[in-house]
Amino acid sequence: MASKHAEPSFTLSSASPTTTRADVVVVGVGPDLKAVGPADAVGDAFGRSFKPTLTTLGFRGKPGDVAVLPTAGVIKAATVIAVGLGDDPTPTTLRKAAAKAVKAVHNATTVTFALPTADADAIRAIAEGALLGGYRFDRYRTRDEDREAAADRPHAVVILTRLSRDADALAALDAAVATAAAVNRTRDWVNTGPGDLTPAAFADSVVEAAKDVAGVKVTVWDEARLAKEGCGGILGVGQGSTHPPRLVQLTYKPKNPSAHLALVGKGITFDSGGLSLKPGASMMTMKCDMAGAASVIAATLAIAALELPVRLTCVAPMAENMPSGSALRPGDVLEIRGGTTVEVHNTDAEGRLVLADGLVVANEAEPDVLVDVATLTGACVVALGERTAGVLGNDDALRGQVVEIGETVGEAFWPLPITDEVTSRVTSSDIADLRQHNPKPAGGALFAAAFLQQFVGETTWAHLDIAGPAFNDAGAYDEVPKGGTGASVRTLVGLAESLAKKID
Ligand code: BES
Ligand code: ZN
Ligand code: ZN
Repeated sequence: MASKHAEPSFTLSSASPTTTRADVVVVGVGPDLKAVGPADAVGDAFGRSFKPTLTTLGFRGKPGDVAVLPTAGVIKAATVIAVGLGDDPTPTTLRKAAAKAVKAVHNATTVTFALPTADADAIRAIAEGALLGGYRFDRYRTRDEDREAAADRPHAVVILTRLSRDADALAALDAAVATAAAVNRTRDWVNTGPGDLTPAAFADSVVEAAKDVAGVKVTVWDEARLAKEGCGGILGVGQGSTHPPRLVQLTYKPKNPSAHLALVGKGITFDSGGLSLKPGASMMTMKCDMAGAASVIAATLAIAALELPVRLTCVAPMAENMPSGSALRPGDVLEIRGGTTVEVHNTDAEGRLVLADGLVVANEAEPDVLVDVATLTGACVVALGERTAGVLGNDDALRGQVVEIGETVGEAFWPLPITDEVTSRVTSSDIADLRQHNPKPAGGALFAAAFLQQFVGETTWAHLDIAGPAFNDAGAYDEVPKGGTGASVRTLVGLAESLAKKID
């Protein structure tokens, strides 16, 4: 059933777009309907027919526009794909345009991009757009026509640029390929059916993936070990399922690291709500509730593969939240690793319980910066919509940095506060140290973050609530497919890159 199509190879070249040996040449076109930058020779080769042909096709040179033009021999490649770039293309415009272009390509072996590449950032955006836009999930497709469609992807992608021998440009290309592969791996894990990605199966898959990356050590705690280690949150959430929980840890220790980054991800392989059962319709997408774990693991593997000088501790608690005779009950009291007790009010607020153990484990490694990623609250989706993640935490600078990096890499984050008022509610249990849930839904994303804050001590910490953007149940757009999106992976890699720069 499973199959892997090799990702295309990516190279830089200073060849000319008119003479390059490729099946397809992608050119950028502005609102004046002139081919931009390195592609102007292609426009010239078409001569006077270029503009009227594009106009006939309804193409106006705006971002999002795409037109497929047979070259009829005016240049060496058989097909030109024109993508609109607007007036002043930013890396974001280029990423989206490249994604749009690859979706328009069929049955091509080699695709060449002749888009403007002012600097290494532009090259990174084009390569990421091409890899992210070309994503398909075909694990469960068995029919011939579907399998053929899935196999229809280029073998080679060439980016034409005068920077083809520039060290920064080549490094940007490597970073793009590693980052996009991590995003696509996250998408694969999220899209996999929850019966095929139980906590044990997910942990096995991580062990397998980590074999390809030198220097990453993986440790898996099974249910017996979790009990020995005092991880009562993970065990409590997992106790209703016939598939027992796990905690996966990855470590990467380069020589002379500039910083130590710890990442923690929510790994609920399916969230039925438990005894506080969700209505059927809201359960449909709950295979995505392990997207935080998938993101932090895939990002860790990418950062290590890029050999960034940042020490990493990655912790992913994995459990299936199910109702049964052995399930966690509202009213139960759990003991989190380290001894804090929590009164459970709603078994559907399970993410914070597994993350509490995960945060304590990660914090024991004494990181400089701690970031958790979780599809944590529906309230965050209500506040910010489906395409923007919330960022909360105890450090304004880190929160701002996440927003800024997100803007650069094409992921939207917006800061939300943790107020004293919500914190006082977290510490207001009648019988235990903490209460897990606030019966009033108002400010639910803030309450969840205030709960998590109880487990991070004084460490500089950010919490990314990706409940909205982790899963796209509407249509594909830009470089984002339907289904699992891989949201947050690019920002996590960007954060590690920024921590790595601190020693330069
Ligand atoms: N996994 C959900 C949050 C979620 C909602 C993720 C929508 C993705 C899309 C989480 O475990 C949950 O059920 N949260 C509850 C919390 C409530 C009971 C306090 C929610 O948001 O309704
Ligand atoms: Zn839940
Ligand atoms: Zn959940």
